[in-house]
Amino acid sequence: MQLLVFLALVTACAASPIVSQAALKPYVKPKSTDSRSPCPMLNTLANHGYLPHNGRNITAQDIGDAIFASTNWHADFGLFPANGALTNLGKSTLDLADLNSTPGGEHPASLTRKDASSGDSNTIDTARVTQLLADSRTSFLTIDSVAKTRNRLDKSSNPPLTSAELGVAQGEAALMMLLMRDTYVSLPTNEQDVSTLRAPKERTKVWLLEEKFPTAQGWKPAEEVVQIADLGPINDAIVASQDAQRGSS
Ligand code: HEM
Ligand SMILES: *[C@@H]1O[C@H](CO)[C@@H](O)[C@H](O)[C@H]1NC(C)=O
Repeated sequence: MQLLVFLALVTACAASPIVSQAALKPYVKPKSTDSRSPCPMLNTLANHGYLPHNGRNITAQDIGDAIFASTNWHADFGLFPANGALTNLGKSTLDLADLNSTPGGEHPASLTRKDASSGDSNTIDTARVTQLLADSRTSFLTIDSVAKTRNRLDKSSNPPLTSAELGVAQGEAALMMLLMRDTYVSLPTNEQDVSTLRAPKERTKVWLLEEKFPTAQGWKPAEEVVQIADLGPINDAIVASQDAQRGSS
């Protein structure tokens, strides 16, 4: 290929939306005085400065905008839960630590945090993350491995989860898989076959333990805007696998 033709191609590619994605804002370790939540995503957004790094005075719109700007997920992923939490808290802005309460959405049997009954449901519990990873024998988390994790946590939870909390916890497991998956084409809306969905363990571990975008482990923002409807099939598959695994044990 002639050099000029090659250069023209490179220039054209650089201008296309797929590779022109702005670089992610850098991760900055939180200080002990910064406000942080039991949600790994919101903490990640604050650690990268998409939300105020001090974690304070945050609106639902701030959260929606932060999710879209960093991951290319629809702002509704932030707006819906944030508006729910603000209503339940009776506030118009929140500090991330406000979410570490029942009205804020905190519940027992978390993937990454101990129960409130044990005294600290906000600090990451490394042992829980280790167990979550050990629930899969390969180097990937799968629908079946997170369903196993949810069944294990639900069964041993003290206090037991309410049915509403069980649904929320399944949704959070689905969000984790949707965010950490190693394929970058959006799932077609209402696709039923999510059997190939997998989340590399190293990447998921870095995200959950360090609450930073695991770019060094290959993570990148979605190429197409991820829609709320993309979550449903993953959620349904986790529920079905939980049922199947309970039936066989
Ligand atoms: C893209 C958006 C989001 C993603 C990917 C996400 C992901 C997750 C995941 C994976 C968990 C489970 C952590 C665990 O069990 O240890 C979680 C928990 C939680 N999330 Fe988010 N989240 C998102 C948005 C939000 C928003 C907007 C709010 C509210 C303003 C929120 C509030 C919470 C809370 C309170 C918990 C703690 C539940 C518990 O006690 O374990 N999340 N989130
Ligand atoms: C909270 O944020 C709003 C706008 O984002 C600002 O006007 C207000 O002064 C802030 N309040 C505090 C206490 O920082």
